[in-house]
Amino acid sequence: MSVYLNGRFLPLAEATIPVLDRGFVFGDGVYELVPVYSRKPFRLDEHLRRLQGSLDGIRLANPHDMAGWRERILQLIALQDFPDQSLYIQVTRGVAPRDHAFPKGVAPTVFMFAQPLVTATPAQKAAGVCAVTAVDNRWLRCNIKAISLLPNILLRQQAIDAECAETVMLRDGFLTEGAASNIFVVKHGVLMAPPPSNLMLTGITYDVVLELAAAHGIPHQVRAISEAEVRDADELWMTSSTKEIMAIVKLDGVPVGAGVPGPLAQRMEALYQTFKLQVMRA
Ligand code: PDD
Repeated sequence: MSVYLNGRFLPLAEATIPVLDRGFVFGDGVYELVPVYSRKPFRLDEHLRRLQGSLDGIRLANPHDMAGWRERILQLIALQDFPDQSLYIQVTRGVAPRDHAFPKGVAPTVFMFAQPLVTATPAQKAAGVCAVTAVDNRWLRCNIKAISLLPNILLRQQAIDAECAETVMLRDGFLTEGAASNIFVVKHGVLMAPPPSNLMLTGITYDVVLELAAAHGIPHQVRAISEAEVRDADELWMTSSTKEIMAIVKLDGVPVGAGVPGPLAQRMEALYQTFKLQVMRA
């Protein structure tokens, strides 16, 4: 498997970084995860714009312009022997003696690799998943896609320990997002999503779902959603680049709606798959 590290394409085993990289020592960096279908990166410009936003958020200069990123990414994709890929991009503040202050004149570390994209099977989508809730105790800059994911890891593990797929997070009585996904709520045929803010990461999948809802006349609202509304939902979905649209059929052990993936989840899943095919396999 070929990976990309600081301007070079090389085998994974040969890709090494100094232990004083600030990504390793401080978690001082940001990342992106781009799904690749049939060797075509999905919504690459949007991912690169979000990467720019994350870099701006941590005050780290972008090492490449859009064209520079695109060229390197397409090269990395071409080097893999599997067509559907999960492409990971990480930029850290580079290697320097350990000191909280930003180092001066240090080049950022840029690392990218691709692994086979594993999305849910139709059977898994038909079954749905269970989720648990937890208080969102992360920092107040969750719109930055930071590599320091310890809070998300601890929160997600609560779901794993309960043999569930995701942790639905609530802050001050309102829905924020999942530990590694965005959360949608359906009530009386209306699709609802929390508004983008510093309290959540605006998913690329989140944007696509809302665009599809608008394009196909599905009633939808982007607004604050209370815990009571989450618990009273007819349908609950998690969305992400790897999970796509996945129905949550049980929350904290209580069935969501009828306890099976709802009609709107199935409709959106079909719209999403058609959209993917149109864009990617055309
Ligand atoms: N995470 N919110 C959080 C906290 C996430 O980690 C993710 C995705 C999302 C959904 O974003 P998108 O639709 O762009 O994938 C929302 C990725 C998949 C990860 O960390 O592996």
